[in-house]
Amino acid sequence: MITNTDVAKRGNQFPDFITSFEQEKDKLYFTTKNGVILEITVLRDSGIRFRYATEHDFEPDFSYAISEDASTGYNHLEVTNEIPEYVIKTAKIIIYVKKDDLKVQIADLDGNIINEDELGFHWEENFDYGGNIVKMSKVTQSGESYYGMGDKASHSNLKGKRVNNWVTDQYAYGKDQEPLYKSIPFYIGLHNEAAYGIFFDNSFSTYFDFAHEKRHVTSFWADGGEMNYYFFYGPKMSQVVEAYTDLTGVPELPPMWAMGFHQSKWSYFPERNVKKIASTFRDKKIPCDAIYLDIDYMEGFRCFTWDNKRFPNPKKMVDDLMEIGFKTVTMIDPGIKIDNDYWVYKQAMDNGFFCRRADGPHFKGKVWPGECKFPDFTNPEVREWWAGLYKEMMVDVGVHGVWNDMNEPAIMEVPTKTANLDVRHDYDGHPCSHRKAHNIYGMQMVRATYDGLKKFTYPKRPFVLTRAAYSGTQRYCATWTGDNVATWEHLWIANVQVQRMCISGYSFVGTDIGGFAEQPNGELFARWIQLGIFHPFCRVHSSGDHGDQEPWSFGKEITDIVRKFIELRYQLLPYLYTMFYKYIKDGLPMIQSLVFYDQSDSQTHFRTDEFIFGEQILVCPVQEPNAQGRRMYIPLGEWYNYWTDEMVNGGLEKWVSADLGKIPMFIKAGAMIPKYPVQQYVGEKEINELVLDVYYKDGIENSEVYEDQQDGYDYKKGRYSLRKFRLRGKQDELIIQQFKDGSFITPYKTFKLQFHGLPFSIKTIEVDNEQVEPSSVKLNQNNSIEISKDFTELHITGN
Ligand code: GLC
Repeated sequence: MITNTDVAKRGNQFPDFITSFEQEKDKLYFTTKNGVILEITVLRDSGIRFRYATEHDFEPDFSYAISEDASTGYNHLEVTNEIPEYVIKTAKIIIYVKKDDLKVQIADLDGNIINEDELGFHWEENFDYGGNIVKMSKVTQSGESYYGMGDKASHSNLKGKRVNNWVTDQYAYGKDQEPLYKSIPFYIGLHNEAAYGIFFDNSFSTYFDFAHEKRHVTSFWADGGEMNYYFFYGPKMSQVVEAYTDLTGVPELPPMWAMGFHQSKWSYFPERNVKKIASTFRDKKIPCDAIYLDIDYMEGFRCFTWDNKRFPNPKKMVDDLMEIGFKTVTMIDPGIKIDNDYWVYKQAMDNGFFCRRADGPHFKGKVWPGECKFPDFTNPEVREWWAGLYKEMMVDVGVHGVWNDMNEPAIMEVPTKTANLDVRHDYDGHPCSHRKAHNIYGMQMVRATYDGLKKFTYPKRPFVLTRAAYSGTQRYCATWTGDNVATWEHLWIANVQVQRMCISGYSFVGTDIGGFAEQPNGELFARWIQLGIFHPFCRVHSSGDHGDQEPWSFGKEITDIVRKFIELRYQLLPYLYTMFYKYIKDGLPMIQSLVFYDQSDSQTHFRTDEFIFGEQILVCPVQEPNAQGRRMYIPLGEWYNYWTDEMVNGGLEKWVSADLGKIPMFIKAGAMIPKYPVQQYVGEKEINELVLDVYYKDGIENSEVYEDQQDGYDYKKGRYSLRKFRLRGKQDELIIQQFKDGSFITPYKTFKLQFHGLPFSIKTIEVDNEQVEPSSVKLNQNNSIEISKDFTELHITGN
């Protein structure tokens, strides 16, 4: 019988007044009369963790998202007990905790509200599963915009949207479709020119409502677990993203080949087809670093096996591919075929490594090989075993990288597309059901894969790719946006998703170029390549049940365009590699949405298409058929049109022409863009000169070039080369200073400086205070000079 109390309990419950306050160093505890405890942890002056318990009872404190290397430490912490509220002051912010209802307000030191509770924390008891549905609602400030949240296929500004994080195999998803493959419960709020971030670290299904249901309310909630969120204050968006990225971690540097162009299809087989594709790249002189083997290389889709007929000698094939500069990447899925004669299955059975249902039987689900069981990757012992399974593939066969797919986990022929909610998981010693483990299951699988590859590819760097992800997965692997479609709308989605992932701390990301489902025409393929070469992970992949999707599949005109852009990516490798270095050093997203680039310019707040590649290249893909160009917004500052060298003063919308052979692309004035020669694959050529494209500016601009051995770990011992260039231009002179760090000796001896937009012709050149004859520094007609890479100061005057 349902009693009145039960009915009352079904509704929302709220904290009442505070009865006690305690402080243990950086942790503050506020307890209410009805048993809610708010734990506030001051991690940094502008990074605060909020955690709420009900019934005086916190869960064990455990999260897969948080990096071991996250930094902590603050300068100032002062708590005062005032009449209506407690006031907590750090060196950056003030937090008010109201005594009568536990509501929180956060302000900057001038008292401007950054973020405030509307209803604040509240909860509903979950009668079906136990625990609470935990909720938080905040006031939407006037003019507030919202960004982040991982892979959402929606307008980059999430204002007015509601989203759900429940990692899902969402084949051929559409614009605004929810949920998708990732759960990255982190958003950035921006109002009054100041940004803050909230990371709701809860692995259950989570929901975020950005002023969708009620115009003045932004809320987030989860099906279970705790209300446990981190607040980061900027005021710059870059500071917010850096703080979130610091907390959830960054990867190590991948091998440089992983940043080359990759070709994939479901599936290239048998062996001679794989080789044919690879050799066609070489014949047609289209650079490519890796070829992918999708599920059909396996024997009956059994992971860690090879189909002997299709691939009689995998080691030889991998070696042969290597001979022509191709790395091989293989797919591994989580589902293990139920087959007593299959060693992986047997080992997992013997050791009790498969997930079980609530009442004891194993969880079974259909995937490619038919009925499968699924390792419980949330058990450290299982992860260790799984890591070990890669030995043969990596060491004996010599495969270079692994691609983990279907790790949501995706289950076929069931409406939920995934495991049953009662499935049990170890959760690293915090046993739970799939409700809690679902969103981190794929993450723990790639973590184990990464551990295995790191060990077995040593002393080289591992390369792992994942489809499913939770916050923090960026520490282990690259990712792609899943099964998209060959449509113009999906080109728009691809652009938005990659930008969004990058500002959500996950920069090593790309899309299936050309679209996974359906067939692109040549024009769409070319336009997608033009975008894809600017994505940190750059791979063509398609479902293969339609026409071919290799760069040469659409006729000569398209092949030539595609080659030209892939070549551009290879030329820009030192720039891209430097972006990666900055990402892991400072948490700087490799791609910046315009709002991230200049939040003080309100014109940027609702832009979706333009982005900054690294810090100095502005790109805006053409996303319509038959276009000869497009309108785009040029952010404030001076920019050179990459194709014409024409200078544009930003802060305006503008028509930019770009026929099929071009993409609208601008270089920031003052930038020095490093370039390598075109190579067919990373390491093909000894780099004997570094080109620096110097874009004149009347003013100052800094640029950097990071280089190392392109693989291996020597860079961690200081064997890297970091060059910082400071360019200062005036009307009739240009001064470039170089500062060098690191002990790696780059193979080249000279720089070739190619000047763009110089307003004068060169009269004198001084290198480190010594006047040199323009001829001895090889002044060429096209305004370029060659000088020693060791210069400290270059001084050019003109008239
Ligand atoms: C999934 C993947 C796709 C892959 C296919 C077959 O749909 O997302 O990339 O090709 O499975 O393995």
